[in-house]
Amino acid sequence: MKNSLVIEGGYPLNGRVRVSGAKNAGLVLLVASIMADGETILDNLPRIRDVEVMVKILNDLGVNARWNEDGSLSICPPQGAVKVKTSYELSKKLRASNLFLGALLGREKEAIVSLPGGCDIGSRPMDLHIKGIQALGSEVEIEHGFIYARTKAPAGARVYLDFPSVGATENIMMMAAKTPGQSVIENAAKEPEIVDLANFLNSMGARIRGAGTDLIKIEGVNELKAGRYAIIPDRIEAGTYMIAAAISKGDVLVENVIPTHLHPIVAKLQETGAIVEETDQGVRVRGSKQVRPVDIKTLPYPGFPTDMQSQMMALLSLAEGSSVIVENVFENRFQIVDELKRMGANIKVEGHTAVVNGVNTLYGARVKATDLRAGAALVLSALAARGETTIEDAIHIFRGYENIGAKLGQLGAKVE
Ligand code: UD1
Repeated sequence: MKNSLVIEGGYPLNGRVRVSGAKNAGLVLLVASIMADGETILDNLPRIRDVEVMVKILNDLGVNARWNEDGSLSICPPQGAVKVKTSYELSKKLRASNLFLGALLGREKEAIVSLPGGCDIGSRPMDLHIKGIQALGSEVEIEHGFIYARTKAPAGARVYLDFPSVGATENIMMMAAKTPGQSVIENAAKEPEIVDLANFLNSMGARIRGAGTDLIKIEGVNELKAGRYAIIPDRIEAGTYMIAAAISKGDVLVENVIPTHLHPIVAKLQETGAIVEETDQGVRVRGSKQVRPVDIKTLPYPGFPTDMQSQMMALLSLAEGSSVIVENVFENRFQIVDELKRMGANIKVEGHTAVVNGVNTLYGARVKATDLRAGAALVLSALAARGETTIEDAIHIFRGYENIGAKLGQLGAKVE
Protein backbone atom coordinates (compact mmCIF):
# COMPACT_ATOMS: atom_id res chain seq x y z
CA MET A 1 0.00 0.00 0.00
CA LYS A 2 1.27 3.47 -0.88
CA ASN A 3 2.13 5.56 2.12
CA SER A 4 1.33 9.04 0.91
CA LEU A 5 -1.65 10.96 -0.43
CA VAL A 6 -1.22 13.81 -2.90
CA ILE A 7 -4.08 16.32 -3.07
CA GLU A 8 -4.47 19.32 -5.32
CA GLY A 9 -6.63 21.81 -3.50
CA GLY A 10 -9.24 24.28 -4.62
CA TYR A 11 -12.01 22.06 -5.97
CA PRO A 12 -15.42 22.28 -4.22
CA LEU A 13 -16.74 18.80 -3.38
CA ASN A 14 -20.13 17.93 -4.80
CA GLY A 15 -22.32 14.85 -4.80
CA ARG A 16 -23.02 11.95 -2.48
CA VAL A 17 -20.78 9.88 -0.27
CA ARG A 18 -21.70 6.72 1.60
CA VAL A 19 -20.41 6.31 5.12
CA SER A 20 -18.90 2.93 6.08
CA GLY A 21 -19.48 0.95 9.26
CA ALA A 22 -18.07 2.44 12.46
CA LYS A 23 -14.42 1.59 13.10
CA ASN A 24 -14.72 1.73 16.87
CA ALA A 25 -17.88 -0.36 16.98
CA GLY A 26 -16.51 -2.83 14.46
CA LEU A 27 -13.31 -3.38 16.42
CA VAL A 28 -15.03 -4.14 19.73
CA LEU A 29 -17.66 -6.34 18.06
CA LEU A 30 -14.91 -8.37 16.41
CA VAL A 31 -13.40 -8.95 19.83
CA ALA A 32 -16.74 -9.69 21.50
CA SER A 33 -17.50 -12.34 18.84
CA ILE A 34 -15.02 -14.73 20.49
CA MET A 35 -17.38 -15.02 23.47
CA ALA A 36 -20.12 -16.69 21.41
CA ASP A 37 -20.49 -20.34 20.48
CA GLY A 38 -20.79 -20.84 16.72
CA GLU A 39 -20.31 -18.60 13.70
CA THR A 40 -20.86 -14.85 14.04
CA ILE A 41 -21.37 -12.88 10.84
CA LEU A 42 -20.71 -9.14 10.95
CA ASP A 43 -22.13 -6.90 8.22
CA ASN A 44 -21.07 -3.34 7.48
CA LEU A 45 -17.56 -3.88 8.87
CA PRO A 46 -15.21 -1.36 7.21
CA ARG A 47 -12.20 -2.80 5.34
CA ILE A 48 -9.62 -0.59 6.98
CA ARG A 49 -6.18 -1.35 8.33
CA ASP A 50 -7.23 -1.49 12.01
CA VAL A 51 -9.85 -4.12 11.17
CA GLU A 52 -7.31 -6.15 9.17
CA VAL A 53 -4.94 -6.09 12.17
CA MET A 54 -7.76 -7.16 14.48
CA VAL A 55 -8.57 -10.06 12.14
CA LYS A 56 -4.90 -11.12 12.33
CA ILE A 57 -5.01 -11.03 16.14
CA LEU A 58 -8.14 -13.22 16.08
CA ASN A 59 -6.46 -15.73 13.75
CA ASP A 60 -3.37 -15.73 15.96
CA LEU A 61 -5.57 -16.64 18.95
CA GLY A 62 -6.90 -19.66 17.04
CA VAL A 63 -10.17 -18.03 15.99
CA ASN A 64 -11.14 -18.52 12.35
CA ALA A 65 -12.00 -15.05 11.01
CA ARG A 66 -12.45 -14.61 7.26
CA TRP A 67 -14.11 -12.28 4.76
CA ASN A 68 -17.09 -13.58 2.79
CA GLU A 69 -17.87 -12.75 -0.82
CA ASP A 70 -20.76 -10.46 0.18
CA GLY A 71 -18.38 -8.26 2.17
CA SER A 72 -19.38 -9.62 5.59
CA LEU A 73 -16.90 -11.22 7.98
CA SER A 74 -17.35 -14.60 9.66
CA ILE A 75 -15.84 -15.31 13.04
CA CYS A 76 -15.70 -18.90 14.30
CA PRO A 77 -14.03 -19.54 17.63
CA PRO A 78 -12.72 -23.11 18.09
CA GLN A 79 -14.80 -25.69 19.99
CA GLY A 80 -12.20 -25.84 22.75
CA ALA A 81 -10.17 -23.07 24.31
CA VAL A 82 -8.67 -20.12 22.45
CA LYS A 83 -5.13 -18.94 23.08
CA VAL A 84 -5.29 -16.44 25.94
CA LYS A 85 -2.16 -14.41 25.13
CA THR A 86 -2.27 -11.65 22.52
CA SER A 87 0.87 -11.04 20.46
CA TYR A 88 2.93 -7.92 21.17
CA GLU A 89 3.86 -7.50 17.49
CA LEU A 90 0.19 -7.24 16.46
CA SER A 91 -1.16 -5.51 19.56
CA LYS A 92 1.28 -2.62 19.35
CA LYS A 93 -0.40 -1.62 16.08
CA LEU A 94 -3.73 -0.75 17.65
CA ARG A 95 -5.00 0.39 20.99
CA ALA A 96 -8.26 -1.54 20.71
CA SER A 97 -6.30 -4.79 21.19
CA ASN A 98 -6.71 -4.07 24.91
CA LEU A 99 -10.36 -5.10 24.52
CA PHE A 100 -9.33 -8.76 24.54
CA LEU A 101 -8.94 -8.40 28.29
CA GLY A 102 -12.68 -8.41 28.99
CA ALA A 103 -13.59 -10.82 26.19
CA LEU A 104 -10.95 -13.43 27.12
CA LEU A 105 -11.82 -13.19 30.81
CA GLY A 106 -15.48 -13.65 29.90
CA ARG A 107 -14.71 -16.70 27.77
CA GLU A 108 -11.65 -18.37 29.32
CA LYS A 109 -11.43 -16.74 32.78
CA GLU A 110 -7.85 -15.92 31.84
CA ALA A 111 -6.20 -13.23 29.70
CA ILE A 112 -2.63 -12.20 29.00
CA VAL A 113 -2.91 -9.00 27.05
CA SER A 114 -0.08 -6.90 25.71
CA LEU A 115 -0.18 -3.30 26.89
CA PRO A 116 -1.52 -1.62 23.76
CA GLY A 117 -0.14 0.78 21.19
CA GLY A 118 -2.24 2.75 18.69
CA CYS A 119 -2.43 6.46 18.10
CA ASP A 120 0.19 8.54 19.84
CA ILE A 121 -2.28 11.05 21.25
CA GLY A 122 -1.29 11.01 24.89
CA SER A 123 -0.88 8.65 27.80
CA ARG A 124 -3.56 6.00 27.62
CA PRO A 125 -3.61 4.25 30.98
CA MET A 126 -5.51 1.04 31.79
CA ASP A 127 -6.23 1.68 35.48
CA LEU A 128 -10.02 1.84 35.04
CA HIS A 129 -10.10 -1.35 32.97
CA ILE A 130 -8.11 -3.11 35.69
CA LYS A 131 -10.25 -1.69 38.49
CA GLY A 132 -13.29 -3.14 36.73
CA ILE A 133 -11.99 -6.64 36.09
CA GLN A 134 -10.62 -6.83 39.64
CA ALA A 135 -14.03 -5.89 41.04
CA LEU A 136 -15.50 -8.81 39.06
CA GLY A 137 -13.07 -11.21 40.70
CA SER A 138 -9.87 -11.16 38.62
CA GLU A 139 -6.37 -11.21 40.01
CA VAL A 140 -4.16 -8.92 37.97
CA GLU A 141 -0.41 -8.51 37.58
CA ILE A 142 1.51 -6.39 35.12
CA GLU A 143 4.88 -7.79 34.01
CA HIS A 144 7.15 -7.37 30.97
CA GLY A 145 4.61 -5.26 29.09
CA PHE A 146 1.70 -7.67 29.57
CA ILE A 147 -1.38 -7.63 31.80
CA TYR A 148 -1.83 -11.08 33.37
CA ALA A 149 -5.39 -11.60 34.61
CA ARG A 150 -7.07 -14.70 35.96
CA THR A 151 -10.50 -15.13 37.55
CA LYS A 152 -10.90 -17.91 40.09
CA ALA A 153 -14.20 -16.83 41.62
CA PRO A 154 -16.02 -14.60 39.13
CA ALA A 155 -18.92 -12.64 40.64
CA GLY A 156 -20.90 -9.61 39.51
CA ALA A 157 -20.09 -6.32 41.25
CA ARG A 158 -20.58 -2.54 41.18
CA VAL A 159 -17.86 -0.57 39.44
CA TYR A 160 -17.64 3.21 39.52
CA LEU A 161 -15.56 4.69 36.71
CA ASP A 162 -13.68 7.85 37.72
CA PHE A 163 -13.90 8.90 34.06
CA PRO A 164 -16.42 7.50 31.54
CA SER A 165 -13.76 5.60 29.59
CA VAL A 166 -15.05 3.97 26.41
CA GLY A 167 -12.59 1.06 26.48
CA ALA A 168 -13.02 0.39 30.22
CA THR A 169 -16.83 0.37 29.86
CA GLU A 170 -16.54 -2.10 26.96
CA ASN A 171 -14.10 -4.41 28.74
CA ILE A 172 -16.19 -4.53 31.90
CA MET A 173 -19.41 -5.03 29.93
CA MET A 174 -17.94 -7.97 27.99
CA MET A 175 -16.56 -9.68 31.07
CA ALA A 176 -19.73 -9.05 33.09
CA ALA A 177 -21.91 -10.51 30.31
CA LYS A 178 -20.55 -13.94 31.26
CA THR A 179 -19.92 -13.36 34.96
CA PRO A 180 -22.52 -14.85 37.35
CA GLY A 181 -24.70 -12.34 39.22
CA GLN A 182 -25.45 -8.70 38.59
CA SER A 183 -22.82 -6.13 37.64
CA VAL A 184 -23.39 -2.40 37.54
CA ILE A 185 -21.18 0.15 35.79
CA GLU A 186 -21.60 3.64 37.25
CA ASN A 187 -20.45 6.68 35.29
CA ALA A 188 -20.28 4.46 32.21
CA ALA A 189 -19.36 5.86 28.80
CA LYS A 190 -22.45 6.71 26.70
CA GLU A 191 -20.96 6.63 23.19
CA PRO A 192 -23.11 5.08 20.41
CA GLU A 193 -20.44 2.37 20.04
CA ILE A 194 -21.19 1.26 23.64
CA VAL A 195 -24.86 0.92 22.72
CA ASP A 196 -23.92 -1.07 19.61
CA LEU A 197 -21.82 -3.46 21.72
CA ALA A 198 -24.69 -3.93 24.20
CA ASN A 199 -27.17 -4.55 21.36
CA PHE A 200 -24.79 -7.05 19.79
CA LEU A 201 -24.21 -8.93 23.06
CA ASN A 202 -27.95 -8.89 23.81
CA SER A 203 -28.64 -10.30 20.33
CA MET A 204 -26.44 -13.24 21.41
CA GLY A 205 -28.38 -13.73 24.63
CA ALA A 206 -26.66 -11.38 27.06
CA ARG A 207 -28.76 -9.40 29.54
CA ILE A 208 -27.58 -5.79 29.48
CA ARG A 209 -29.75 -2.78 30.25
CA GLY A 210 -29.04 0.94 30.33
CA ALA A 211 -26.36 1.19 27.64
CA GLY A 212 -26.34 4.77 26.37
CA THR A 213 -26.93 6.09 29.90
CA ASP A 214 -24.34 6.42 32.64
CA LEU A 215 -25.69 3.40 34.54
CA ILE A 216 -25.37 0.01 32.85
CA LYS A 217 -26.73 -3.15 34.53
CA ILE A 218 -25.59 -6.57 33.40
CA GLU A 219 -26.96 -9.95 34.50
CA GLY A 220 -24.37 -12.59 33.71
CA VAL A 221 -25.42 -15.55 31.54
CA ASN A 222 -23.72 -18.93 31.01
CA GLU A 223 -23.82 -18.96 27.28
CA LEU A 224 -23.81 -16.58 24.30
CA LYS A 225 -25.04 -17.80 20.93
CA ALA A 226 -23.62 -16.50 17.66
CA GLY A 227 -25.76 -14.79 15.02
CA ARG A 228 -25.66 -12.13 12.33
CA TYR A 229 -25.36 -8.42 13.13
CA ALA A 230 -24.89 -5.15 11.19
CA ILE A 231 -22.58 -2.51 12.64
CA ILE A 232 -23.72 1.13 12.98
CA PRO A 233 -22.38 3.77 10.57
CA ASP A 234 -19.21 5.65 11.49
CA ARG A 235 -20.14 9.03 12.94
CA ILE A 236 -16.54 10.27 12.77
CA GLU A 237 -16.14 9.36 9.11
CA ALA A 238 -19.49 11.08 8.48
CA GLY A 239 -18.33 14.18 10.36
CA THR A 240 -15.10 14.25 8.37
CA TYR A 241 -16.97 14.29 5.03
CA MET A 242 -19.34 16.93 6.41
CA ILE A 243 -16.35 19.16 7.13
CA ALA A 244 -14.92 18.30 3.71
CA ALA A 245 -18.07 19.82 2.19
CA ALA A 246 -17.80 22.90 4.40
CA ILE A 247 -14.07 23.54 3.97
CA SER A 248 -14.17 23.10 0.18
CA LYS A 249 -17.29 25.28 -0.05
CA GLY A 250 -19.08 22.40 -1.73
CA ASP A 251 -22.44 20.66 -1.43
CA VAL A 252 -22.36 17.06 -0.25
CA LEU A 253 -25.01 14.57 0.83
CA VAL A 254 -23.50 12.25 3.42
CA GLU A 255 -25.46 9.00 3.27
CA ASN A 256 -25.89 6.07 5.68
CA VAL A 257 -25.81 8.04 8.94
CA ILE A 258 -27.71 7.99 12.23
CA PRO A 259 -28.51 11.72 12.57
CA THR A 260 -28.71 11.75 16.40
CA HIS A 261 -25.12 10.49 16.60
CA LEU A 262 -24.07 13.56 14.62
CA HIS A 263 -25.83 16.25 16.67
CA PRO A 264 -22.74 17.59 18.46
CA ILE A 265 -20.93 17.89 15.12
CA VAL A 266 -23.91 19.39 13.29
CA ALA A 267 -24.39 22.01 16.02
CA LYS A 268 -20.81 23.24 15.77
CA LEU A 269 -20.71 23.10 11.99
CA GLN A 270 -23.84 25.26 11.84
CA GLU A 271 -22.21 27.79 14.17
CA THR A 272 -19.42 28.17 11.59
CA GLY A 273 -22.06 29.18 9.04
CA ALA A 274 -22.33 25.94 7.07
CA ILE A 275 -25.85 24.97 6.01
CA VAL A 276 -26.70 21.54 7.38
CA GLU A 277 -29.93 19.77 6.53
CA GLU A 278 -31.20 16.38 7.64
CA THR A 279 -32.92 14.60 4.76
CA ASP A 280 -34.36 11.10 4.40
CA GLN A 281 -31.20 10.01 2.63
CA GLY A 282 -28.69 11.49 5.06
CA VAL A 283 -27.17 14.81 6.05
CA ARG A 284 -26.60 17.46 3.40
CA VAL A 285 -23.89 20.04 4.05
CA ARG A 286 -23.30 23.18 2.04
CA GLY A 287 -20.25 25.28 2.74
CA SER A 288 -20.62 29.00 3.33
CA LYS A 289 -18.41 31.66 1.71
CA GLN A 290 -17.15 32.77 5.10
CA VAL A 291 -16.32 30.52 8.03
CA ARG A 292 -17.28 31.99 11.40
CA PRO A 293 -14.95 31.31 14.34
CA VAL A 294 -16.39 29.07 17.09
CA ASP A 295 -15.13 27.72 20.39
CA ILE A 296 -14.91 23.96 20.91
CA LYS A 297 -14.55 21.84 24.05
CA THR A 298 -14.07 18.11 23.58
CA LEU A 299 -16.00 15.94 26.02
CA PRO A 300 -17.28 12.38 26.33
CA TYR A 301 -20.49 11.72 24.31
CA PRO A 302 -22.84 13.56 23.85
CA GLY A 303 -20.22 16.32 24.04
CA PHE A 304 -18.11 17.26 21.04
CA PRO A 305 -15.99 14.20 20.13
CA THR A 306 -12.24 14.36 20.58
CA ASP A 307 -12.01 12.30 17.38
CA MET A 308 -13.40 15.31 15.44
CA GLN A 309 -11.24 17.95 17.09
CA SER A 310 -8.39 18.01 14.56
CA GLN A 311 -10.76 18.11 11.59
CA MET A 312 -12.64 21.05 13.15
CA MET A 313 -9.30 22.79 13.74
CA ALA A 314 -8.56 22.49 10.02
CA LEU A 315 -11.84 24.26 9.21
CA LEU A 316 -11.37 26.95 11.86
CA SER A 317 -7.88 27.73 10.63
CA LEU A 318 -9.69 29.36 7.68
CA ALA A 319 -12.26 31.25 9.82
CA GLU A 320 -12.69 35.02 9.92
CA GLY A 321 -11.45 35.50 13.46
CA SER A 322 -10.14 33.54 16.42
CA SER A 323 -11.48 30.28 17.86
CA VAL A 324 -10.53 28.58 21.11
CA ILE A 325 -10.30 24.78 21.22
CA VAL A 326 -10.04 23.03 24.58
CA GLU A 327 -9.04 19.35 24.46
CA ASN A 328 -10.36 17.63 27.59
CA VAL A 329 -9.99 13.95 26.67
CA PHE A 330 -6.43 13.32 25.40
CA GLU A 331 -3.49 15.51 26.36
CA ASN A 332 -1.45 15.09 23.20
CA ARG A 333 -3.95 15.84 20.48
CA PHE A 334 -2.34 19.02 19.20
CA GLN A 335 0.52 17.44 17.24
CA ILE A 336 -1.44 18.40 14.15
CA VAL A 337 -0.72 22.07 14.87
CA ASP A 338 2.86 22.03 13.58
CA GLU A 339 1.74 20.37 10.36
CA LEU A 340 -1.11 22.86 9.83
CA LYS A 341 1.36 25.69 10.42
CA ARG A 342 3.46 24.33 7.55
CA MET A 343 0.40 25.03 5.39
CA GLY A 344 0.12 28.60 6.67
CA ALA A 345 -2.23 28.22 9.64
CA ASN A 346 -1.83 30.53 12.64
CA ILE A 347 -2.39 28.49 15.82
CA LYS A 348 -1.03 28.89 19.33
CA VAL A 349 -1.10 26.10 21.90
CA GLU A 350 -0.99 26.51 25.66
CA GLY A 351 -1.50 23.24 27.55
CA HIS A 352 -4.89 21.79 26.67
CA THR A 353 -5.97 24.92 24.80
CA ALA A 354 -5.35 25.98 21.22
CA VAL A 355 -6.11 29.44 19.90
CA VAL A 356 -6.78 29.26 16.18
CA ASN A 357 -6.42 32.63 14.46
CA GLY A 358 -8.07 32.26 11.08
CA VAL A 359 -6.07 33.02 7.91
CA ASN A 360 -7.35 33.79 4.39
CA THR A 361 -5.49 31.03 2.60
CA LEU A 362 -3.74 27.75 3.32
CA TYR A 363 -0.95 26.67 0.98
CA GLY A 364 -0.09 23.17 -0.20
CA ALA A 365 3.02 21.69 1.43
CA ARG A 366 4.70 18.40 2.35
CA VAL A 367 3.19 17.35 5.68
CA LYS A 368 3.04 14.24 7.83
CA ALA A 369 0.05 12.44 9.37
CA THR A 370 1.00 12.03 13.04
CA ASP A 371 -2.15 10.10 13.98
CA LEU A 372 -5.39 8.98 12.39
CA ARG A 373 -7.52 12.08 12.96
CA ALA A 374 -4.61 14.48 12.43
CA GLY A 375 -4.19 12.77 9.07
CA ALA A 376 -7.86 13.36 8.29
CA ALA A 377 -7.45 17.03 9.22
CA LEU A 378 -4.53 17.35 6.80
CA VAL A 379 -6.67 15.86 4.03
CA LEU A 380 -9.34 18.49 4.77
CA SER A 381 -6.82 21.34 4.81
CA ALA A 382 -5.34 20.08 1.55
CA LEU A 383 -8.77 20.16 -0.12
CA ALA A 384 -9.01 23.88 0.63
CA ALA A 385 -5.34 24.78 0.16
CA ARG A 386 -3.83 26.58 -2.81
CA GLY A 387 -1.61 24.15 -4.74
CA GLU A 388 -0.53 20.61 -4.02
CA THR A 389 -0.20 18.92 -0.63
CA THR A 390 1.66 15.67 -0.07
CA ILE A 391 0.62 13.88 3.12
CA GLU A 392 3.26 11.40 4.25
CA ASP A 393 2.63 8.50 6.62
CA ALA A 394 -0.87 8.29 5.18
CA ILE A 395 -1.03 4.76 6.62
CA HIS A 396 -2.48 6.45 9.72
CA ILE A 397 -5.40 7.66 7.60
CA PHE A 398 -5.97 4.22 6.05
CA ARG A 399 -6.23 2.80 9.58
CA GLY A 400 -9.64 4.41 9.91
CA TYR A 401 -11.02 5.63 6.56
CA GLU A 402 -12.26 3.09 4.04
CA ASN A 403 -11.41 3.97 0.41
CA ILE A 404 -10.83 7.60 1.27
CA GLY A 405 -9.09 8.40 -2.02
CA ALA A 406 -11.91 6.92 -4.10
CA LYS A 407 -14.66 8.50 -1.99
CA LEU A 408 -13.10 11.97 -2.27
CA GLY A 409 -12.36 11.46 -5.96
CA GLN A 410 -15.99 10.64 -6.60
CA LEU A 411 -16.91 13.99 -5.00
CA GLY A 412 -14.59 15.84 -7.37
CA ALA A 413 -11.40 16.12 -5.32
CA LYS A 414 -8.06 15.68 -7.07
CA VAL A 415 -6.44 12.92 -5.02
CA GLU A 416 -3.69 10.44 -5.81
C1 UD1 B 1 -11.92 5.26 22.45
C2 UD1 B 1 -11.85 5.33 20.96
C3 UD1 B 1 -11.11 6.58 20.52
C4 UD1 B 1 -11.73 7.80 21.16
C5 UD1 B 1 -11.85 7.64 22.67
C6 UD1 B 1 -12.59 8.78 23.34
C7 UD1 B 1 -11.86 3.00 20.31
C8 UD1 B 1 -11.13 1.86 19.70
N1 UD1 B 1 -11.19 4.15 20.45
O1 UD1 B 1 -10.59 5.13 22.93
O2 UD1 B 1 -11.18 6.67 19.09
O3 UD1 B 1 -10.91 8.92 20.89
O4 UD1 B 1 -12.55 6.43 22.97
O5 UD1 B 1 -13.84 8.95 22.78
O6 UD1 B 1 -13.04 2.88 20.61
N2 UD1 B 1 -8.39 6.78 30.83
C9 UD1 B 1 -7.86 6.59 32.08
N3 UD1 B 1 -7.78 5.34 32.59
C10 UD1 B 1 -8.21 4.25 31.91
C11 UD1 B 1 -8.77 4.43 30.63
C12 UD1 B 1 -8.84 5.72 30.11
O7 UD1 B 1 -7.44 7.56 32.71
O8 UD1 B 1 -8.13 3.13 32.44
C13 UD1 B 1 -8.45 8.13 30.25
C14 UD1 B 1 -7.56 8.26 29.02
O9 UD1 B 1 -6.23 8.56 29.37
C15 UD1 B 1 -8.21 9.40 28.28
C16 UD1 B 1 -9.68 9.24 28.63
O10 UD1 B 1 -9.75 8.37 29.75
O11 UD1 B 1 -7.76 10.62 28.79
C17 UD1 B 1 -10.54 8.67 27.51
O12 UD1 B 1 -10.09 7.41 27.15
P1 UD1 B 1 -11.07 6.24 26.70
O13 UD1 B 1 -12.47 6.72 26.69
O14 UD1 B 1 -10.73 5.03 27.48
O15 UD1 B 1 -10.61 6.03 25.19
P2 UD1 B 1 -10.31 4.68 24.44
O16 UD1 B 1 -11.30 3.64 24.82
O17 UD1 B 1 -8.87 4.36 24.52
